[in-house]
Amino acid sequence: MTLERVLQQTARVFNLHGIEDSHLEARILLGHILKLSPAQLYTQPERTLSQEKIESLQQLIERRLCQEPTAYIVKHKEFYGVDFYVDPRVLIPRPETELLVEKSFEFAKNRTNCLSSLKKPFLIADVGTGCGAIAISLALNLPQIKVYATDISPSALEVARLNCEYHNVMEQITFIQGNLLEPVPEPVDLIVANLAYIKSSELADLSPEITNFEPIVAIDGGRNGLDLIQQLLEQAEEKIHSRGCLLLEIGQNQGKAMVSLINHCLPKARFELIPDLSGIKRVVKIDF
Ligand SMILES: C[S@@+](CC[C@H](N)C(=O)[O-])C[C@H]1O[C@@H](n2cnc3c(N)ncnc32)[C@H](O)[C@@H]1O
Repeated sequence: MTLERVLQQTARVFNLHGIEDSHLEARILLGHILKLSPAQLYTQPERTLSQEKIESLQQLIERRLCQEPTAYIVKHKEFYGVDFYVDPRVLIPRPETELLVEKSFEFAKNRTNCLSSLKKPFLIADVGTGCGAIAISLALNLPQIKVYATDISPSALEVARLNCEYHNVMEQITFIQGNLLEPVPEPVDLIVANLAYIKSSELADLSPEITNFEPIVAIDGGRNGLDLIQQLLEQAEEKIHSRGCLLLEIGQNQGKAMVSLINHCLPKARFELIPDLSGIKRVVKIDF
């Protein structure tokens, strides 16, 4: 059977089972089997697939139909233009988190220009680092920064370390296990965090792709969804330099609750809610 036909058939099966982006998903799985990128597959539509490869693909299709996320099947995910190893020890990085990285990058770039004459490293804490997506994306783009990357989950930190070694930024990032900012040993210039923000009572409404495969500690935001974020706000003042900044990702429709929380925990803070391209307030920026 030719690659073109295999792709069409796989996409049709995915479509019938309600899997979105069926053509792209089919390309990613077939590309994984053949060690080709989805784009490279376009150049060989008439190539024939051996029986052995068809059977391997069939196994991956079955896993996908059991709702296993494609990123866990192929064990990687692109984020901010960088490839990350992922497995069920970590949350799969989401495209919406790229806005958080973009805003962190903007703030750090501005401030490192000012600090360069002082020869002091610009310090960042990435709280709840997961696979290390935020810390590593920032380190790759800003060689003058040092990052403390924390996570409560020792197994998530194992994955983050693998990614850090793979991208060769070990000198810039220190991984520490612990609760939020508690293990960070000194005040930093920027705190960035994409913490769990789904209400515990709403976890059952999420798709089985998430609840059956991704780590619960990465998605459960407690009773009102903002429990971890509240704790972080309470810890922040002690762990941030004056003129520092805290950048957080929040969920859709959490803007109002977030404003009340900031007014309660940090009544003097200046802050803004930053929308993504669809107008959803996704990032909170708090200036200290
Ligand atoms: C939503 S995931 C984000 C992962 C990664 N930063 C990203 O953006 O893809 C949240 C992460 O926070 C970690 N986490 C949960 N509770 C924590 C806590 N109390 N202290 C530190 N990390 C925590 C989870 O293990 C998980 O890796």
